[in-house]
Amino acid sequence: MRKILFWLIAILIVLQFFRPDRSNVSAGPSAANINNFVAVPADIDQLLKTSCYDCHSNNTSYPWYAGVQPVGWWLGKHISEGKKELNFDAFGDYPLRRRYHKLEELEDMVDHDEMPLASYTLLHKAARLSAEQKRQLVAWSEAVRKEMEENYPVDSLKRK
Ligand code: HEC
Repeated sequence: MRKILFWLIAILIVLQFFRPDRSNVSAGPSAANINNFVAVPADIDQLLKTSCYDCHSNNTSYPWYAGVQPVGWWLGKHISEGKKELNFDAFGDYPLRRRYHKLEELEDMVDHDEMPLASYTLLHKAARLSAEQKRQLVAWSEAVRKEMEENYPVDSLKRK
């Protein structure tokens, strides 16, 4: 038993020498940020920043425990997968169809309590969305899509 404990602790100590990747902290706002392409009212901007930006932007604010392995790897995986699916700092680089589709997904995810991830809101209480905040987010996204529908031909937004 003591031997196992010793080795477990030894392994955990060795793991700490593998530093987590902190490359998701950028110097400032990016040119392709969603705010430069879509009207995002201040309260919606705040909601996205508080509840989504840690995994869906180039500005992740890392908690102290992100420095402890293997937690750091686990968080890093969420961040890189989240950004791959949707990066609010790259939104302007997306083709129209992808923008439209990601907003649709956003509505779906928020509506079904799939985002923000439950493992995240467990410790980030401020990121939890109230029923009213969910309604606001979904209504905003729907309005953005509606405006897109008015400004662009349908086949540039949806696959037939
Ligand atoms: C702790 C990290 C984390 C947070 C916080 C988070 N997400 Fe995600 N998100 C992910 C990951 C990981 C994926 C990809 C895997 C998946 O779909 O479950 C994802 C995927 C998505 C997708 C893409 C789905 C698709 O299939 O195209 C949308 C849209 C999304 N998230 C919206 C949001 C919104 C809106 C918020 C804030 C209200 C949010 N997320 C907060 C980690 C996060």
